[in-house]
Amino acid sequence: MGKRTIAPGGKIEGEIELPGDKSISHRYAIIGALAEGTTEISNYASAADCQSTLECLRHLGIEIESAKGVVRIAGEGLDGLKQPRRTLDAENSGSTMRMLAGVLAGQPFTSTITGDDSLRRRPMRRVIEPLRQMGAEIKSSEGDRAPLEIRGGKLHAIDYTPPIPSAQVKSAILFAGLYGDGVTTVRESVCTRDHTELALREFGANVEVSRGVVRIHPRPKLVGRKLTVPSDLSTAMFLVAATLILPESSLMLHNVGLNPTRAKVLDFLTSIGAPIRVPSLQARDGELVGNISVRHATLEGGTIAGAQVAEMIDELPMLAALGPFTEKGMEIHDAQELRVKESDRIRTIAEGLRAMGARVEEFPDGLRVEGRSAGKLRGAKIDPEGDHRIAMALAVAALGAEGDTVIRDADCVGVSFPQFFEVVERLRGVETR
Ligand code: S3P
Repeated sequence: MGKRTIAPGGKIEGEIELPGDKSISHRYAIIGALAEGTTEISNYASAADCQSTLECLRHLGIEIESAKGVVRIAGEGLDGLKQPRRTLDAENSGSTMRMLAGVLAGQPFTSTITGDDSLRRRPMRRVIEPLRQMGAEIKSSEGDRAPLEIRGGKLHAIDYTPPIPSAQVKSAILFAGLYGDGVTTVRESVCTRDHTELALREFGANVEVSRGVVRIHPRPKLVGRKLTVPSDLSTAMFLVAATLILPESSLMLHNVGLNPTRAKVLDFLTSIGAPIRVPSLQARDGELVGNISVRHATLEGGTIAGAQVAEMIDELPMLAALGPFTEKGMEIHDAQELRVKESDRIRTIAEGLRAMGARVEEFPDGLRVEGRSAGKLRGAKIDPEGDHRIAMALAVAALGAEGDTVIRDADCVGVSFPQFFEVVERLRGVETR
């Protein structure tokens, strides 16, 4: 697989509209398949993960057309999925596997879902446990890993408090709750992203939300519709970080998803000195969408812990990689969940930053990255271990290093943002072939 060489320096300048949000795209596709009639999704994510969801849905008998970012789904209704003839493959996508597990639990057939090496190492007990309580029979590999063989059927409504805050787990239970025999309740100690709740409502489901308690009424009539996916804030964060790092940079990002359960990272960055503005904000298809402007600045640095971890879970690698550019460094605690993402993100980001000369202390639940006083980063050879967010976070840090950085297996960025390298070079005014 391809490696990429990043030459440091230059400045980020301009305006851009990024591809659709990964989390929202998965949900619109899944719910569109369970709705009656056609769903048309504009600005569907170009992320490979979201293509994995479409492929799985196709194998469940759903007709899907996709061209130029518009995905048309011929919804078959809650009872319209067909038993797949082959094992479903979620590839690298944890969201696909966990959320579809909830849907499969409600089907009157047996199906198997697997994934790539990384996904087959990730914990699945968190969805197996509640779905078994609802009545699904699930077989897994040793240690509650995928492949998962799911024998679905009539489900019981449950009242469940996930032991780990997880939007994927909440969503799996809510999707299974569509097939329950009463109202299913999920209780959250930290409010994780609520795209499933918002999307289900847009399609006509009855979802009640009050202070961390989400309730779904079973067997709604979901109706196909037209929706537009906002640009992905988690992806935008890499460009925001590049702008913060490179002197004289300034960037405007259009139509970014600013759902409050996702946008805490902007509050955090602002609190440590990032000149971020949101000059416009509107509601669209139940989601908040707005423009973001950002300029270069030296950040103070800070600590992320407790509830902030779940609120900024996908942005933590990038925030850690900003550490060497801050006055006081960056420190992350309570983030053991990072160890079971696409890679062990505490280890991979720490190793990558150390290879670039950063001073990093690793804790079981986080890390501390020293600030500017530890010296400037230098270019290095980096192995992101197939993890898209690690590759992008270190590539952005490389922009502010001395000397070139080579990122091995750089194509892995396609999992969430295939155009990453081209977009960065375009915004830096560098010609790419
Ligand atoms: C996601 C939820 C998060 C996040 C992942 C996408 C989602 O995972 O890390 O990239 O779309 O629901 P968890 O809910 O497991 O923390």
